[in-house]
Amino acid sequence: MPSSALQRKSGGYSPIMPLPPPGPTTRVIVTGASSGIGAAVARALAHRGHPTTLVARREDALTDLAAELGPQHEVHAADLGTDAGLDAARGLLDDERVVGLVNAAGFGVTGRVAELAGDAGGRAALGDLVRLNVLALHDLTVAAVGALTRRGRPGAILNVSSITAFQPLPGAASYAAGKAFVQSFSEAVHAELAGTGVTLTTVSPGLTRTGFADAAGTDAFDQVPDLLVGEARDVAEAGVEAMARGDRSVTPGLVNQLTALGGRFAPRTLLLPALDAGMRAFDA
Ligand SMILES: NC(=O)c1ccc[n+]([C@@H]2O[C@H](COP(=O)([O-])OP(=O)(O)OC[C@H]3O[C@@H](n4cnc5c(N)ncnc54)[C@H](OP(=O)(O)O)[C@@H]3O)[C@@H](O)[C@H]2O)c1
Repeated sequence: MPSSALQRKSGGYSPIMPLPPPGPTTRVIVTGASSGIGAAVARALAHRGHPTTLVARREDALTDLAAELGPQHEVHAADLGTDAGLDAARGLLDDERVVGLVNAAGFGVTGRVAELAGDAGGRAALGDLVRLNVLALHDLTVAAVGALTRRGRPGAILNVSSITAFQPLPGAASYAAGKAFVQSFSEAVHAELAGTGVTLTTVSPGLTRTGFADAAGTDAFDQVPDLLVGEARDVAEAGVEAMARGDRSVTPGLVNQLTALGGRFAPRTLLLPALDAGMRAFDA
């Protein structure tokens, strides 16, 4: 059991689950809940009895999901890429019932930086990516760590990273760098929180069948064997299990774990040209 899930009690250590048992005075906020991994996480939490607040831009999709999950689930439509949307989402953490936060909102941009730099739309997309995947996640995590530790009771945060966090990725440079930030930041804060009763867990999925490919404007997912594309439900189950235990991080699936290992340890001089060639092949 990770040390962060242990609290000193009566001179010894006893296990305390960072995600408190569900009840009417508990609530978990889930961003990116209108689709894909965020929606699957909301379902996994609801299945365990946790009331949720569902956050994303598409209010109709959030409302449909809340109706499916039950009356204790709430909807908060917000664009986390704007100051106003982010401020409003941060305000949700003032609710004393909040015992958890899941940061799943995010999107990808593929293409070479030299090409994206050539048009206003490409430059804007990269800026929007950093604003949502990095700045909004950082801002909400900092706010949640502050709110949960101040309350002095257990609480849990889950940040959605990616196996692209473990190595640079030509053809998706800003996306992979953003996920490297998420992974590094989240693992460091996990260590800082040891013994507080509040935990921060990172889940790092590989290719997963969601709305991600459409949003990124890529058909790369259609070009890899089905076996290599995971399901959002499996990612959500692994993430929520790890979050409930207060683990530092989880990479769901053996293929993804091996890919992450390769990304961490393969020499960059060999890895980067191979990844560059692979990403060019997807574009062809
Ligand atoms: N699918 C994969 O292969 C994969 C692999 C590794 C990691 N991930 C990560 O998993 C997370 C979830 O992505 P997904 O695969 O589930 O893709 P998805 O189905 O496209 O879901 C993305 C979610 O983010 C929300 N979102 C996007 N822009 C937003 C904004 N400006 N403000 C608020 N919410 C916003 C979307 O909702 P609205 O459009 O309604 O706002 C949607 O709910 C992302 O962080 C992604 O990087 C995905």
